[in-house]
Amino acid sequence: MTETRTVPELPALLASIWDRLEKSCDRISQPWSHPVLSTIGSAGPEARTVILRRLSASRRELVAFTDRRSAKVDELRDDGRAVWTFYDPQDRWQLVAHSTIDVLSTGDFADLCWHESRPESLRCYLGPYAPGQRTPEPCFNTPLDLTPGAATHGELEAGRSNFVVLRATVHSLDWLELHSQGNLRARFAWEESKWTCDWVTP
Ligand SMILES: Cc1cc2nc3c(=O)[nH]c(=O)nc-3n(C[C@H](O)[C@H](O)[C@H](O)COP(=O)(O)O)c2cc1C
Repeated sequence: MTETRTVPELPALLASIWDRLEKSCDRISQPWSHPVLSTIGSAGPEARTVILRRLSASRRELVAFTDRRSAKVDELRDDGRAVWTFYDPQDRWQLVAHSTIDVLSTGDFADLCWHESRPESLRCYLGPYAPGQRTPEPCFNTPLDLTPGAATHGELEAGRSNFVVLRATVHSLDWLELHSQGNLRARFAWEESKWTCDWVTP
């Protein structure tokens, strides 16, 4: 028997997109928790996986954390335009979010993000070398003077200066669903302080 397909209204679809993003935050088991973040580098486009750490649907914000010394930070300081690509292979939902990113290294929000992060996810900021640096032999880039296992925020404080928050403001969302009964695609754009919603050809 063929399953009946329910096609949502566009505002309901937009709400369920933000809801899914919200439920994916910082949950590595959720496919939308680790989007590909694309930036504009001096030699052309650059892309890498990041973890979606926080979100505010009302402010249209997506937030990731990174190392101040990584290439993407300089790229984003030069040109804040960035694209987030999410894919869920279960539902076969792709989401492409166009945004502008602010790099925050100090201030209340960056401090809050640091203090509310699990200590185990902050250990990488104590690595002695910048990410992407050439090494003569395989290198884990972990701090030598920190015992493996649990660490407190106090023990990790030396990594705070390497920790930066990438806070994106989303300008548009492009949603695509692959489906045996026909693919569907919709575009949502923030225009004149509200979302405009359109079906577009897949
Ligand atoms: C599943 C997964 C999640 C990752 N999450 C992050 C992250 O949240 N932040 C980050 O800076 N790098 C993360 N990385 C590493 C990046 O993909 C990338 O290798 C690193 O940030 C260096 O990128 P860049 O040299 O382009 O700046 C993750 C990699 C994987 C595979």
